[in-house]
Amino acid sequence: MWRLMFAICCIFVLNQMGLVDSDTLMIPIFRQKSPREAALNSKDMHKLGIHLDWLRKHHHHNSTGNDSIALFRFLDMEFYGKVLIGQKGQAFNMLFDTAWQTSWVISNDCSWTTIGCWFHNKYDHTGSSTYVANGTKFISPEGSYNLTGYYSNDTFSIAHSRVNGQMFVEMTSVPYTYIFSKADGVMGLGIKTGKIDPFFYNMLRNGTIKQPLFSVYLSRDRQSQRGGNILLGFIDKKHIHRVPVPNSNKTIPDTITYLPVEGGSGYWQFHMDRIVLDMPSQNKSFPFCLHGCSTIADTTNNIILGPQQDINAIHTLIKAKPLLFGRSRVPCDTINKLPPIDFVLAGKNFTLKGPQYIQKMSYGSVTLCLSSFVSSSVPTEQNIWILGGAFLSQFYSIYDIGNNRIGFVRAASV
Ligand SMILES: *[C@@H]1O[C@H](CO)[C@@H](O)[C@H](O)[C@H]1NC(C)=O
Ligand SMILES: *[C@@H]1O[C@H](CO)[C@@H](O)[C@H](O)[C@H]1NC(C)=O
Ligand SMILES: *[C@@H]1O[C@H](CO)[C@@H](O)[C@H](O)[C@H]1NC(C)=O
Ligand SMILES: *[C@@H]1O[C@H](CO)[C@@H](O)[C@H](O)[C@H]1NC(C)=O
Ligand SMILES: *[C@@H]1O[C@H](CO)[C@@H](O)[C@H](O)[C@H]1NC(C)=O
Ligand SMILES: *[C@@H]1O[C@H](CO)[C@@H](O)[C@H](O)[C@H]1NC(C)=O
Ligand SMILES: *[C@@H]1O[C@H](CO)[C@@H](O)[C@H](O)[C@H]1NC(C)=O
Ligand SMILES: *[C@@H]1O[C@H](CO)[C@@H](O)[C@H](O)[C@H]1NC(C)=O
Ligand SMILES: *[C@@H]1O[C@H](CO)[C@@H](O)[C@H](O)[C@H]1NC(C)=O
Repeated sequence: MWRLMFAICCIFVLNQMGLVDSDTLMIPIFRQKSPREAALNSKDMHKLGIHLDWLRKHHHHNSTGNDSIALFRFLDMEFYGKVLIGQKGQAFNMLFDTAWQTSWVISNDCSWTTIGCWFHNKYDHTGSSTYVANGTKFISPEGSYNLTGYYSNDTFSIAHSRVNGQMFVEMTSVPYTYIFSKADGVMGLGIKTGKIDPFFYNMLRNGTIKQPLFSVYLSRDRQSQRGGNILLGFIDKKHIHRVPVPNSNKTIPDTITYLPVEGGSGYWQFHMDRIVLDMPSQNKSFPFCLHGCSTIADTTNNIILGPQQDINAIHTLIKAKPLLFGRSRVPCDTINKLPPIDFVLAGKNFTLKGPQYIQKMSYGSVTLCLSSFVSSSVPTEQNIWILGGAFLSQFYSIYDIGNNRIGFVRAASV
């Protein structure tokens, strides 16, 4: 039993991939997929009972969809979609990352001794007639995570859309923790700050999409493999919660709250007024981010990352106890009694209830209830909140590049 529990916890390390790291705030073009190596070495992995066969077995998924890209879910951790690269298209599972600009995929040139490349689809440019060599070296910030490769140029096809001449990175070395990831690479949906056009910008130039925006719907059904949709060029009203019109029997889609994108950092970064944890039973409420704080939307994982001091305070209030790898747990029978937490954006409440910010994970007979809140230990990030799937699955998000703004609206419950 303990072994199983440890196995689950170990996989939670996945969740940590995609967290920021202090270096990247200074080099915002690349958002480091920090795998938190410290928590895990191969000896530990063995000890913790991670079996590669088991991982492999859970690595089979299908794709459907149109310009709306079907997202799939891996262990309630990652959201990824299918992308074809080259001619004729080689298929990859890609994370659609709103907090990263550079698109990349594991290269066929990745040596077999690099464990992180195992069990992944690899891009082979010799098999693509549309490949154009570039070769400029890519080294992740500070080179500290062994994410290295070189730039190439090829065609990307997603659903019914196609972009020719996309610059991307072929990774020839990735950290070994990538064996825990279902994704073969990343589609960078960040905001352009550098010379290279991120994927969506090339797509816009092609003119095949209707509006200069994309939207992300993450499904709330955590049991389902379908993680949601990325909609390129449109907002699908069916994903928006409907509200009744007074004095009639009609309902209309709820209003989208838009916030200006700030910072010029390349992230979808915006201002949050504050966070309030309500404890009606004690006639009390506990505010965080009292003077406002910077917030980033992150579509690649499920957690909500915040300043250490605030997260510790929230965990004390909801009686969460530290588990492993920076995650905390609550007793499962308390989930429904936990206080609601309001994220106040542009003066409006975006409220998460207990079951929405607690991840209930089952593995065999073991069930764990993990807080989605994770604290950032990076000193430069102590006034930043990063809202991942726990938030984005309740609120359909709109990334409006044309108007330099980001929108949120309560998601329909289907
Ligand atoms: C996945 O695809 C295979 C073959 O194309 C099909 O047999 C299977 O039913 C599909 N699974 C899902 C979950 O759609
Ligand atoms: C997908 O998009 C194409 C072109 O925009 C359209 O003709 C087709 O009907 C769409 N298919 C579905 C299943 O929505
Ligand atoms: C690679 O791409 C960069 C950026 O577009 C360009 O400046 C450079 O000249 C290219 N190198 C080659 C060898 O094509
Ligand atoms: C990076 O690679 C080197 C040599 O391949 C290895 O010794 C080191 O442990 C790796 N570091 C990380 C953080 O993966
Ligand atoms: C633009 O999109 C169309 C349809 O998806 C595709 O056929 C065409 O090659 C694309 N052009 C460029 C320049 O990406
Ligand atoms: C990528 O290759 C295409 C030719 O297929 C070329 O038109 C385009 O300029 C290249 N893009 C970059 C950024 O070098
Ligand atoms: C709403 O529906 C009810 C029952 O169908 C009906 O009695 C009522 O008149 C309707 N109200 C309005 C404002 O249409
Ligand atoms: C909360 O406030 C209400 C009204 O002020 C009061 O009646 C109630 O006793 C208070 N409850 C607690 C737990 O303090
Ligand atoms: C947000 O909700 C709290 C209670 O949960 C309420 O006290 C507060 O007035 C609400 N704020 C707004 C702006 O609606």
